[in-house]
Amino acid sequence: LDNGLALTPPMGFMSWQRYRCITDCEKRPTECISEQLFKNIADAIVEEGYKDAGYEYVIIDDCWLEFDRDNVTNKLVADRDRFPSGMKALADYIHGKGLKFGLYEDYGTHTCAGYPGVINNMKLDAETFAEWEVDYVKLDGCYADSESMDKGYPEFGDHLNQTGRQMVYSCSWPVYQEIEGVIPNYELMIQYCNLWRNWGDIDDSYNSLREIMDYFAINQERIQPHAGPGHWNDPDMLILGNYGLSYEQSKTQMAVWAILAAPLLMSTDLRSVTPEIRAILQNKNVIGINQDALGIQGKRVKVVKDIEVWIRPVLPLTEHYYSYAVAFVSRRTDGIPFDLSLKLSEFKLDYPIGYQVRDLFELEELGPLNYTIDDFFDVRVNPSGVQFYKFTIL
Ligand code: DGJ
Repeated sequence: LDNGLALTPPMGFMSWQRYRCITDCEKRPTECISEQLFKNIADAIVEEGYKDAGYEYVIIDDCWLEFDRDNVTNKLVADRDRFPSGMKALADYIHGKGLKFGLYEDYGTHTCAGYPGVINNMKLDAETFAEWEVDYVKLDGCYADSESMDKGYPEFGDHLNQTGRQMVYSCSWPVYQEIEGVIPNYELMIQYCNLWRNWGDIDDSYNSLREIMDYFAINQERIQPHAGPGHWNDPDMLILGNYGLSYEQSKTQMAVWAILAAPLLMSTDLRSVTPEIRAILQNKNVIGINQDALGIQGKRVKVVKDIEVWIRPVLPLTEHYYSYAVAFVSRRTDGIPFDLSLKLSEFKLDYPIGYQVRDLFELEELGPLNYTIDDFFDVRVNPSGVQFYKFTIL
């Protein structure tokens, strides 16, 4: 969507994966979907260094609404107990921290968790979002006819646009169509959405991460060309920091999300992330790849002995050649770090003069290691882990 927003993949926090629909604030006071939670998260984004690393959107997912609209104005109403100050006040708080405010809704009659959807009140709801100074809208697709989405999502997008307020528009339109076997119309999505969810929800497990990586690899020829500045494929939230991923697997998600030019929407308790995981989330080299200005989504170009090689073209470039981010992702489980040696040309690097190589997770330079395409590159990858490099053209 050409609205000047999301020229690089959006970065921030989104509540769903970690907080789901926890609504009992008496029983779970620090975890329930409430203004207190999002204020705390906004504070942590600033105080714990995430804002400086580039994270800016604080996005409330499902379960923020009252079950009924206002009976006089018909407007959406935030849950009165959990958001006693109202959404505009929360937006002010978040904006006061120099951050941006995102809100979830659903295109259908109800959100997935059963709260009111926008379908019969699109204009009013878009205006309400603008009034609340929302900066990012995630529009889900439960309780809706997936065929009508080709018209309905653009219609809501038009209403957002007509408010005159700049809002990132995240669509879930392709997920619901793909699940029903319909091939989504990506050209239309590029025109109307800043990003879109391609596939099912991520869960807090390595298995879920593997399935999503496979979906993006298997379907890459079809979906990769549609990503670019202002319009991104979205493999779903970052789950590192929660319960399901090991340290190595956490690096794997971060590296692959950088290769995929994916939105970096953390969904973990930012008040209590361990220093190790925080360092992964805030790694400036890896974020630099994710945010590369060319905005070209990478691909999985080789699988050898259960080591996958993912590459993404990045700056700097010459007239005919790119630099590359290269991730060696191990799908192995055999207990020892695995050694692999490949010629650069085997993973599709092609610049005849050669590259300088830098390890992206180690913050310091590896030294002047120059490689040409016929040289062998040696890696040692931990089980279910990753080695992540930048190959910069000389
Ligand atoms: C389905 C979406 O894909 C999730 O990301 C989340 O928004 C839930 N719905 C909320 O109900």
